[in-house]
Amino acid sequence: MNNIAIFASGTGTNFDVIIQNIENGYLDANVSLVVCDKLGAKVIEKAVSKNIETLVFNPKDYESKADYEKIILEKCLSNKCSYIILAGYMRLLSDVLLDGYKDKIINIHPSLLPAFKGKDAIGQAINYGVKVMGVTIHFVNKEMDGGKIIAQESFNVDPSWSHDEIEAKVHSIEHILYSKTIKELLEGKI
Ligand code: GRF
Repeated sequence: MNNIAIFASGTGTNFDVIIQNIENGYLDANVSLVVCDKLGAKVIEKAVSKNIETLVFNPKDYESKADYEKIILEKCLSNKCSYIILAGYMRLLSDVLLDGYKDKIINIHPSLLPAFKGKDAIGQAINYGVKVMGVTIHFVNKEMDGGKIIAQESFNVDPSWSHDEIEAKVHSIEHILYSKTIKELLEGKI
């Protein structure tokens, strides 16, 4: 069984589904660490309620990204994490983590990359008036939402849908696609 670390900054609905899929046996994994850069984020209390070790930090307390990433890297290593799963973690990674976990870090992004990188990808896509939207899972590199694409799924946008309805559709796809991809990764199929 693989230990994994989940990095998140927000609500953690993807975290929830990964945990459910571990509990129901779909994923042969153990979340041994949750890393969060936002004090008070909902994902923290969720992790605590599951007795998962958390590393919560405020980036402003450190002089550089490398300084806090060294601490994160040590925690990931001491928890014997094989992979790092980014699920709404809103920070670029530096060489400290990218070298420490080379080709072992993946991210999920709510657009069909390379379109609409960065924040509020759904809003960006709506503003553009795109008719097809989607979700991308990719390996993480230095660039924002860069890295080789592992999986994508698209859907047609109903013009009557609100931002919230589109977001709900995105999440419903993410929740299935991320666990499926993590499963393949852990089984050495990716
Ligand atoms: C997801 O939409 C993901 O694509 C993006 O951040 C969001 C996290 O949502 N990177 P949640 O915290 O898992 O609900």
